[in-house]
Amino acid sequence: MSYSSFELLDHSRPILIFGRDGQVGKALQQTLGDFQVPVIYLGRKDCDLADKSSLQQVLNRYQPQVIINAAAYTAVDRAESERDLVVAINAEAPEIMANYMAHVANGILVHYSTDYVFADTKTTDYQEVDSPGPMKQLCVYGQSKWLGEQAIEKQFNLEGHPKSTADQTQLSRYFILRTSWVYGDGDNFIRTILRLAGERDNLRVVADQIGVPTSAQWLAEIGIQMACSRLDSGIYHVVPDGETSWHGLAVFAIEIAAMAGKGVDVKVENILPITSDEYPVAAKRPVNSRLSNQKLKKALSGMAYTTTYPNWQEQVEAYVKDYVATPLKS
Ligand SMILES: NC(=O)c1ccc[n+]([C@@H]2O[C@H](COP(=O)([O-])OP(=O)(O)OC[C@H]3O[C@@H](n4cnc5c(N)ncnc54)[C@H](OP(=O)(O)O)[C@@H]3O)[C@@H](O)[C@H]2O)c1
Repeated sequence: MSYSSFELLDHSRPILIFGRDGQVGKALQQTLGDFQVPVIYLGRKDCDLADKSSLQQVLNRYQPQVIINAAAYTAVDRAESERDLVVAINAEAPEIMANYMAHVANGILVHYSTDYVFADTKTTDYQEVDSPGPMKQLCVYGQSKWLGEQAIEKQFNLEGHPKSTADQTQLSRYFILRTSWVYGDGDNFIRTILRLAGERDNLRVVADQIGVPTSAQWLAEIGIQMACSRLDSGIYHVVPDGETSWHGLAVFAIEIAAMAGKGVDVKVENILPITSDEYPVAAKRPVNSRLSNQKLKKALSGMAYTTTYPNWQEQVEAYVKDYVATPLKS
C-alpha cells in the first residue's frame, strides 16, 4: 500500500488517534509507526470520551490536522443497560470531534462505524445510500453508532460550512468507515472460538447471521489511506470480498489453526450450526450484515491503491496462522 499522499497533510499539526488500546487502535499504531509523521495516541485514561469537557480540552491542546476515531463503546450486550453512556461515547463524542474538525482548513475526521446500523430491511448487501434503521429495531449499540454518523454529517453540513472553495485543498472532510466482524489484537470471535476449540469436543455456533469478517490491520491501513486522499466526504463500507456466517467463520478458523499445528480438540463435524434463537443474547443482532464494498473499490482504484483487494478468507488465514504462532515466537 502506498502512503505517498502523506505529503498532502500539514505535518505542523498532529494526527490524533482515539482508541489507542482497541483492536483498530493498536493496528493504527503498528501501521503509522513506520512513518515520520507526528501522531498522538490517546487511550481512555488520557481522554475519557464520556467527559465532553475533557475531549474539548484535548482538541484545543493538540489542534489536530487529522482525527482518526477508533474508540467506541463496543460491548454490544452490556450496552442495552447503559444507553446514556453508550450514546455519550458513540454519538456525542464524535459530534464534538466533527464540530472541531469541520472548522479546520483541510481538516479530516476518519470515524469507524458498523453494520449494526442496519436492521434487516434488505436481504442483499447494503449500499452506502441505503437508509439505516429503523431506529426502534436496532440494538442500543447500533442506535448509538447511527446517531454518531448523523451527528458527524450534520456538523460538516451546517449552514456556513463551505461545500467548495477557490482552493479545494482547504476543505475539511469526514470519512465514516462502516465495517463488520472485526478481529485484531484484542478479544474477538476468532480468539474465543480457537480457545473453546482447545477445551471442548463440540461447539454450537450461530449459522443464520451472515456478514464479512474484517481485519483490524486492514481497517487501519484503509483509514490512513482515506485520511491522505482527496476523496469526497461520505460514508464508505470497508469490508473484504465474500461473506460467511459465524458458523462458517468458526469452521474455517479452526481448520486453519489445526493445519498450523494448534491443539484442537473439536472435530469439524462437531461444530454444530444453530439459529440465533437458540443462542439468546441481550442485544438483537441483524441477520443480514452484508455491506457492499463497490464504492470503496472504486475509490481505491482512483487512489493508486497498489494492493490486490482482499477476500475475508485470506485475511483470516493470515491472522489465524500468526495468532497460533505467536506463543512460539515469544
Ligand atoms: N469489533 C467489531 O466487531 C466491530 C464491528 C463493526 C464496527 N466496529 C467499530 O470499529 C471501531 C473499532 O472497534 P474495535 O474492535 O477496535 O473496538 P475495541 O477493541 O473494543 O476498542 C475500542 C476502544 O475504545 C475505547 N473506549 C471505550 N470507551 C471509551 C471512553 N469512554 N473513552 C475513551 N476510550 C474509550 C476502549 O478503551 P479501553 O481499552 O480502555 O476499554 C477501547 O480501547 C469502533 O468504532 C467499532 O464500533 C467494530
